[in-house]
Amino acid sequence: MVLWGTDNMKTEGTPLAIALALLGAAPRFDGVGRLVGARLVPLAQLGRPRIDVVLTLSGIFRDLLPLQTSLLAEAALLAAQADEPVERNFVRKHALETMRETGCDLETAALRVFSNADGAYGSNVNLLIDSGRWNSEEELAEQFLRRKSFAYGPKGPPRAEAELFQRALGTATVSFQNLDSVELGTTDIDQYVESLGGMNRLIQKARGQQPLALIGDHTGLESKVRSLEEQVALETRTRLLNPKWFEAQLAHGYEGVRNLSGHVTTTLGWSATGSSVPQWVYTEVTETFVLDAAMRERLAALNPTAAAGMAQRLLEANDRGYWRPDPATLDALRQASAELDDRLEGVVAGAPA
Ligand code: BEZ
Ligand code: MG
Repeated sequence: MVLWGTDNMKTEGTPLAIALALLGAAPRFDGVGRLVGARLVPLAQLGRPRIDVVLTLSGIFRDLLPLQTSLLAEAALLAAQADEPVERNFVRKHALETMRETGCDLETAALRVFSNADGAYGSNVNLLIDSGRWNSEEELAEQFLRRKSFAYGPKGPPRAEAELFQRALGTATVSFQNLDSVELGTTDIDQYVESLGGMNRLIQKARGQQPLALIGDHTGLESKVRSLEEQVALETRTRLLNPKWFEAQLAHGYEGVRNLSGHVTTTLGWSATGSSVPQWVYTEVTETFVLDAAMRERLAALNPTAAAGMAQRLLEANDRGYWRPDPATLDALRQASAELDDRLEGVVAGAPA
């Protein structure tokens, strides 16, 4: 699970509570009601096995919620220490395996809370994708691993534990993050790619397979769980390809076009981190914003850099194998992209050299 600071604060700790519930743990309070740690819910009361949960905290969560950070770490440690059958306690099962295979102690094998090094924020996988300067998807996984593999235990300073982090993610079959705002979805800002996308990429490296990626949508009156693929498709239909939405963006001129182009980069980010973005997403974005001559002209007049960037990004989606347009579409996109580049560079056809 990915935990952010803001969405935990806005939802009074919903994602944190989900993590504790999966572990079969609860907060522990002292005699005057102060939060002092975690306690286990007995298996008999839980009525199901304890689920192993590996947590990737944003730097903001770590900074804002230090008590909750150690609460989660303690919950994982208590679960690993519990004298319970391993088929009813997957935290213990995996921790014992890690001890056997690496020779580490139980405290180390039970580390489940990971974030950046002290004072650092983000995986920067989004920045790498934005730059376009990466060769293999493995690099994205390694970038995430380098930045987010600092283990936060129940006590003491964070520890650099890259191998352990990768090993723990190697057992992850499902990945999960919450959404709490209708304005900031998985395609609106690139930090979901930076966190959930980066984690999915590392899970793929560690386990040889993508996890089932789920989004908990808490933006409405009723919470809903969707697959990440469904969420990206839903946002694309209702935002990027919705004339009401993109016209409102275009009313903001330069910044609106930059934002539309940013959505395309974030979409490529989902492909790059291993989600199956449907082909129609790239095709319809190309048709709507690049191949439609009047729309292309509007975008280029408002923000020539972002207009050219969007066309280049769509070509990049093709180059990297995330999108296989028909040859006519690809030709038309190449030509439009060249025109947008010329315009940006001030090249005028037929002008003296
Ligand atoms: C956070 O609140 O943890 C967060 C907010 C925006 C981007 C990334 C993390
Ligand atoms: Mg940004």
